[in-house]
Parts: sequence; structure tokens; C-alpha cells
Amino acid sequence: MPEGRKFHIQTFGCQMNEADSGIIARVLLDAGFRRSGSELDADVIFLNTCAVRENAVEKIGHLLEHLKGAKKRRKTLQVGVLGCVPQHQREEMFSRFPAIDFIAGPDSYRRLPALIEEAASAVRPAMLDFNPAETYEGIQPVRESRISAFIPVMRGCNNMCAFCVVPFTRGRERSQPLEMVTGEVRELAEAGYREITLLGQNVNSYSDPDSGAGFPGLLDAVALAAPGVRIRFTTSHPKDISIGLVDTIASRPNICRHVHLPVQSGSDSVLRGMNRGHGISEYLEKIRIIRDALPGVTLSTDIIAGFCGEREEDHRATLDLLRTVRFDAAFMFHYSTREGTLASRTLPDDVTEEDKKRRLQEIIDLQQEISAENNRLQVGTVAEVLAESESRRSPDRLLGRTDGNRAVVFDRGECMPGDLVRVRLISSTSATLSGRREGVIRAFLS
Ligand code: SAH
Ligand code: SF4
Ligand code: F3S
Repeated sequence: MPEGRKFHIQTFGCQMNEADSGIIARVLLDAGFRRSGSELDADVIFLNTCAVRENAVEKIGHLLEHLKGAKKRRKTLQVGVLGCVPQHQREEMFSRFPAIDFIAGPDSYRRLPALIEEAASAVRPAMLDFNPAETYEGIQPVRESRISAFIPVMRGCNNMCAFCVVPFTRGRERSQPLEMVTGEVRELAEAGYREITLLGQNVNSYSDPDSGAGFPGLLDAVALAAPGVRIRFTTSHPKDISIGLVDTIASRPNICRHVHLPVQSGSDSVLRGMNRGHGISEYLEKIRIIRDALPGVTLSTDIIAGFCGEREEDHRATLDLLRTVRFDAAFMFHYSTREGTLASRTLPDDVTEEDKKRRLQEIIDLQQEISAENNRLQVGTVAEVLAESESRRSPDRLLGRTDGNRAVVFDRGECMPGDLVRVRLISSTSATLSGRREGVIRAFLS
């Protein structure tokens, strides 16, 4: 049945979902499907979805409304919803959205070809079983970029932060064998990749199923396996930041000096309600360890405004924390309650919508000032920038990132995406630095 049928995948949410879309594409290609150039000429459209916040889910709802119309015009079009939303909302999806032909959760992608076939015979199948052993070992993902690659090294989360739906959409933690990861890293390095990001919902609780080696051991082995490649990792949980991990980063020049360390709130009482397992003094101690061992390290974080029980004084504590740490960047959200989570079952969602939005705006405004000041301090220095793409505004300029993950645009001259370039930084905003090219350190095709 699949011979020649064309598929299109639209991906939402985190980098793990992006990596998963590469796995899904490989499974379908191996089964005889072809990729379509666009949604318009696809026979099967997949939405690989994110359930982490209310507005992410609403976006899927709008798209499914739009696809209902498309299905009236294209009778054989099939629509599959994958990822975290169907895993969370289960068969209820079918009654809410008539456009859906089938649904599958994050552990079911190997069986997608069978599911598509089943869906063609008019039933609306669902594959939502967790498979705690599934790491998609042995599947070579289809990769969009020839420069940067993601490798999911662990999946799932055992932490149960009170606000978070991920443990319910991704299941228990499981890790990819270290030898498999380093093998893939070597292949990517040989194929010319310049940057590899190790992914996990909770990446530093990685544990090699064969040897029991932890994340520092994996990171070290990966850095050694690809000495010319930039190595990044995300997302870390504060509880798993250890001296061993920081020493590993310090000892390998190709591990990027950037740590993304979600803190969520600056208030101990809110952190307790969130079940984060640490207070602010422990968090600040981790930041101290990181900064002591890694001079010049950049730090980023995630913040939630208006979690259950958050008072004005708790909110001010978050603003104070931002002033104390002076993160280089932050992802900031207002709290939205997610069904099934600890908070939705045990804590009243008692901060008004208005307060949530105002507090979020205050957090964003302050963080923008801090990011702008941090970036301004970079002006005048020379950065090593890995060019990633043409800048959105002009094909004559390239966009790239420093080792610390700062975005830099510069006049490209003869440069290509993939080149590692020495750039003199001459101006800045809160989000980007601009600079002048001073020389190519390593050309992409060398
Ligand atoms: N460790 C995970 C976290 C995923 S969620 C990972 O990065 O893979 C990313 C961020 O979304 C969290 O750190 C948190 O700041 C935010 N978030 C999670 N649940 C939320 C909710 N219910 N409302 C608002 N923000 C939320
Ligand atoms: Fe969204 Fe979280 Fe699922 Fe990623 S793991 S797609 S952030 S709900
Ligand atoms: Fe979510 Fe907390 Fe895990 S934010 S992914 S439950 S570490």
C-alpha cells in the first residue's frame, strides 16, 4: 500500500521532538513512503506535537481545524497526530478533532507504517503504549542539517515536577548504550558534522545500561570520539550538576562552555510546591561551582511565572534571582495547568491570569535588560562563530553561534554555513551580536 505515498511531518515543541521527526521519517522511508515537498502534495500529514503548555496544544487544535477543510477537498489525505499531545489526551482526541485518522505516542514510531495501513481501512487506530525499553537504537534518523546533529541519549523523566506533563507523555527514563552513542558521534564527525547536541529531557541523569557510567563519562567519551566537533547537551536538572560533570567540561576544549539550567522560580516555597528537589541556596551553589570551574561560561534558564501559591514576594524573589545570577538568556513562560500533573491534582491554580501575565512581562523586561548588558560586554572582543545559516534579513549575512551559544550575525564574504569563523564583535542587542569577519578558522568543506 505505501508504495510511493508521500508524507509530510510538521514538528512542534522541543529538540527531542525534532530528533524524533528524523526517526519517524526514516521508519517511513524504509517502509516505502516518499517525502513530499510540502504539506500541499502530501498523502499523509503528521503533526508531531507538544503538550507542555496550554497554548502549544491550542495551536494543534487550529491546525486540525484547517486540515478538516483540506480533507474535504483531498479525499485520500490521511492525518496522524504524534508525540506528546495524543499521549496525554489519548482517544479523547478523536472525538474533539474529526480530522484525525490515527494517533501514536512517542514510544510507538517503529509501528507507524502498520498504523497508517490500519487507518486506511476506516477504523481510527491509536498506539499509546509506553515501551520503557524503546530508545530507537539502530534507526539512523533523517537529518535536515549537514552541520549540526541531535542525538537523543536518554528519554523520559523520573522527576515529577508538579507542573510538568513530560513524565506522563514520555514515560520512565531510559538511556542509549554509551558505545552506540560514541559510534554515532564518530560517524557524524566523519561525515563532516561540526556540532553535536546530546539530548535528554533530563540529560544529566543519563546512565549507560551496560556499564552504569553516568553523564560525565558519556560526555567525556563523546568529546574524545569527535575532537574537532562542538559538543553541547541539554536539558540539565540542577540536582544532577556535579563537580565531575563540570570538570569534564573544563577538561575538553570541544565541549561548549554553556549550561542551560532551568530554575523555574527564585522562591524556596514555590520551588517546594513545584517539587523541584532543591532550594535557591543549592541552586546558587551549583552556579558557583560552574562559574569557578568554567570562566566565561554562559548560563541560561527556564522560568515559570504564576505557579500555584506564588505571592508577590515570591515573584520578587524570582526577579532578585535574575539580578543575582545574570543569566545570558532565559525561556520564560506563565504557568498553565496540565491535566494529570501533581499540581493539577493537589494545588489550586490561584494566581489570576492578569497577575500571571504581568509577572511574566516583568520577568521578560528585566531579563532582556540583563541579556542586553551581558551582550554589550562582549562588544570589542573576538569570538569563534560556527556559521549555521543565512541571516533571515539578508543572504549577504550569516547567522552563527559562539561556543557559549550567543547568536552572532556577520557579513559573509566568501564564507559558507558550516565554516568556523573568527568574528570581531562590534554591536549588540539583547538577542544578537553583530560583528566583522576577521578570518576563517576552519572551512566547512575542509
Ligand atoms: N527538562 C525538560 C523540560 C521540558 S519543559 C526538557 O527541557 O526537556 C521546558 C520548560 O517548560 C520547563 O523547564 C518549564 O520552565 C516550562 N514548563 C513546563 N511545564 C509548564 C507548565 N505547565 N506551564 C508553564 N511552563 C511550563
Ligand atoms: Fe513538549 Fe515536553 Fe513533549 Fe518536548 S517532551 S514535545 S517540550 S511536552
Ligand atoms: Fe519536566 Fe521536571 Fe522532568 S521539568 S521533564 S518533570 S525534570
